[in-house]
Amino acid sequence: MSDLTPEEAFLTLYSDLNREGPGAAADLGWALSVAATPAEARICDAGCGSGADTVTLAKERPRAQIEAVDKIAHFVAAARQRTAPFGARVQVRHGDMAQLDGPYDLIWCAGALYFLGVTEGLKGWRPALAPGGAVAFSEPCLLPRPSQAARDFWAEYPQISDVAGIRARVAAAGYRVLGEQMQIGDAWEAYYIPMAKRIAKLRPEATGALAAALDEAEAEIARWRAAPSEIAYALMVVAPA
Ligand SMILES: C[S@@+](CC[C@H](N)C(=O)[O-])C[C@H]1O[C@@H](n2cnc3c(N)ncnc32)[C@H](O)[C@@H]1O
Repeated sequence: MSDLTPEEAFLTLYSDLNREGPGAAADLGWALSVAATPAEARICDAGCGSGADTVTLAKERPRAQIEAVDKIAHFVAAARQRTAPFGARVQVRHGDMAQLDGPYDLIWCAGALYFLGVTEGLKGWRPALAPGGAVAFSEPCLLPRPSQAARDFWAEYPQISDVAGIRARVAAAGYRVLGEQMQIGDAWEAYYIPMAKRIAKLRPEATGALAAALDEAEAEIARWRAAPSEIAYALMVVAPA
């Protein structure tokens, strides 16, 4: 596996992983309940990756129409395969989550809104929300009195703030907070433990770009292991004010 491009190396690492970012199935039930998403809702999974949460949304709301979107064709193909058993009520689109039509009762966005920016993304999604609709998103969050290990983990995301800072970015978009909870521990294990196993499997044959991708992922996991009780996403359920 020595001739891979950096993009191919990235996709090789992520192949066969259940999800592409931290998250736990139980959090979707909580968010659907806080958002009071109706049984026959129209729901969007924005930045769905390979569709772990799309599947959970389809199970949690068996009469809902679910549309998922991601910009990486490889993830879209994986998500289509995983959601095929749900039939036509689940559609996965290859596209830009900045361009959503709707109208949606819920836009779910796990570990992806930071690509648009919280304020910018929420403002852009406002016209895609149905009356009474809500957005649920997870966003990196600094806990009080972060250690140097926690700051090191987030060094490549200088926009990170505490939860008050996230609330301020939500308010700046013209939204109010319906509910919030921290994702610490389980949600991160669900992402990093399978990834560590995937790295161990690929390592013996890895050279070049793939070896570099494995090194980078391994270093990230080591930074998380240095402070797992301090590394958090805030899961925010918000609606237009
Ligand atoms: C950290 S992953 C999270 C994936 C998935 N939500 C999960 O939790 O497993 C972020 C995803 O957002 C997607 N993404 C980033 N910017 C996007 C955009 N503008 N439009 C569509 N997808 C985007 C990436 O391709 C990637 O699959």
